[in-house]
Amino acid sequence: MEEYIKNINTKIIIIDPDDIDWKLLQQAGQAIREGKLVAFPTETVYGLGADALNVEAVLKIFKAKKRPFYDPLIVHVSNLKEINDYVEVFPDVARKLGELFWPGPLTMVFKKRKLISDIVTSGLNTVAIRIPNHEVALGLIKEARRPIAAPSANIFSHTSPTKAKHVFSDLKGSVDIIIDSGDTAIGLESTVLDVTTTPLKILRLGGITFESLKRVVPGIIIATENTKVKRAPGMLSKHYSPVARLILVEEKNEEMLNRILKLALQYRNKGKKVGIIACKENFEKYPGFFVKVVGEAEDLDSCARNLYAQLRVLDELKCDIIISENFENKGMGRAIMDRLRRAAG
Ligand code: TXA
Ligand code: MG
Repeated sequence: MEEYIKNINTKIIIIDPDDIDWKLLQQAGQAIREGKLVAFPTETVYGLGADALNVEAVLKIFKAKKRPFYDPLIVHVSNLKEINDYVEVFPDVARKLGELFWPGPLTMVFKKRKLISDIVTSGLNTVAIRIPNHEVALGLIKEARRPIAAPSANIFSHTSPTKAKHVFSDLKGSVDIIIDSGDTAIGLESTVLDVTTTPLKILRLGGITFESLKRVVPGIIIATENTKVKRAPGMLSKHYSPVARLILVEEKNEEMLNRILKLALQYRNKGKKVGIIACKENFEKYPGFFVKVVGEAEDLDSCARNLYAQLRVLDELKCDIIISENFENKGMGRAIMDRLRRAAG
């Protein structure tokens, strides 16, 4: 907190989502209109927002994040009607999914209209759009009276922020305002779904599970590495990474425990500081190592919610190596495993 206040280039404002201070949110909305950068909470992770219709402002996002221009941004809006202004085609199936899952952790990729700049979409003829399920995010979009382009508010390829202090640690000085509304509820990014193709294709697993999308659109598929190259660089093989080297152990049960202990001891013998990401049940299985618990193995939502913050804690402890347990490949577990595999590179 102290550190927050001392930094003069970045203003921190605290907004309680259950009791919104509209005066403060109006100021943040005005900052967006003036072409400034505002980091804001969503239900997934914190976003680094700018006026999506202002190219100069959008360029600042790439600069602040050190993000390459080939990685397109998500445009955040507050209601379905608005989307017609930005997309060429709004397929019926997308409308249905929007009505079911928005506001929520689903991003859909549409054929874009000219109004959306090539800078936002990295020259693609499509635009990614999402209505976030967070009162402060929705309030900010409404107060700004603009669509808000926002990637996750972290340095490019680093773990996404689930707390305002993560944003501060990555982007202090290069973002004008950070809105602190506490921890994000989901903790992993939105599911990115391409609705321009048949069948519909999941480009990134995330907050809306494959299973729940499949219940509505049975033919839906998860894109393979080959078919999504260049479409969603956020899916680059090395992404969502802590600073420490991450090793994901894919064995199950006893074999997993034994393998993790063996690796941990090996690295410690080489003088490395080792951290371990584990489920609650296994907390005591790795004596002598820094063990960070993400949740009960069965409670995949909790594991998703805590994963990024615990990776950051192990980074703060200056671990050289982080060894992670694996999680069940169902529901939110799919997105967790996707992120861990990418973080492991
Ligand atoms: O939950 C989230 O999605 C968060 C919050 C802030 O909304 N945002 C987020 O943004 O994770 P970002 O930029 O970190 O990830 C956006 C992903 C990237 O993988 C990007 O490549 C993909 O969406 N994407 C954006 N526009 C696209 C497009 N036109 N076609 C395909 N993929 C696109
Ligand atoms: Mg990101």
